[in-house]
Amino acid sequence: MSVLALVPAAGDGVRLGAGVPKALVRLGGVPLVVRAVDGLLASEAVQAIVVAVRAVDLAVVRELLAGRCGQIEVIVGGADRSSSVRAALWYGLHRFPATRTVLVHDAARALTPPGMIASLVAAVEAGWSAVVPVLPLADTVKELNPVGVVLGTVDRSVLRAVQTPQAFEVSLVRRAYGLAESDPGASAVTDDAGLVERLGEPVHTVPGDPLAFKITTPWDLRVAELVVGST
Ligand code: C5P
Repeated sequence: MSVLALVPAAGDGVRLGAGVPKALVRLGGVPLVVRAVDGLLASEAVQAIVVAVRAVDLAVVRELLAGRCGQIEVIVGGADRSSSVRAALWYGLHRFPATRTVLVHDAARALTPPGMIASLVAAVEAGWSAVVPVLPLADTVKELNPVGVVLGTVDRSVLRAVQTPQAFEVSLVRRAYGLAESDPGASAVTDDAGLVERLGEPVHTVPGDPLAFKITTPWDLRVAELVVGST
């Protein structure tokens, strides 16, 4: 057992406004969390998966994911994404002690191409301890003051939007999440690689994919429906 993927799926999805938790929203008839897990399995690079869900959804998600090849565990997540990831990480490392590489994904990035997932695992196996998928920014980016007036234009050529899964060598992600428990600054960090950055360790990048976009708003869901309908 060497590659463990964590799938935080315990959000309530208020911004999506679907009336059910986001992980259970159906896209082409298939719940987002099921699509995210199936994408990880289809990469053929992942041997074990821990999914973190709301306590009330535990039974239904276990049922939805039953019968798949591969080791899949469903646990209860936390009050925010990083708590859900932490719960899944500690559970997964205990349950799968032979883990060498950890992927941290989002159930909301349900259309992530399996090939991109495999490229992240390959990058860690080739020697990078932390790797994230990135995309260049299409729009011009402005910095604003608190009342919305432009202070200046940011050089977008050095900026990248970051997606998931993010991939880590196991001892590094263990150290990053371990330290975060006693680091007050960690609560402001918005992705898993950000915790590695706080350790002063390098984070490498591979090309992301537009299909790995996060389904957050009704617009995103509409786009995802068009993508699924066209394939
Ligand atoms: O809300 P947002 O889309 O930013 O959440 C990103 C991911 O984190 C989603 O897959 C969501 O289910 C997950 N999450 C979680 N636990 C929370 C909040 C969010 O696992 N308490």
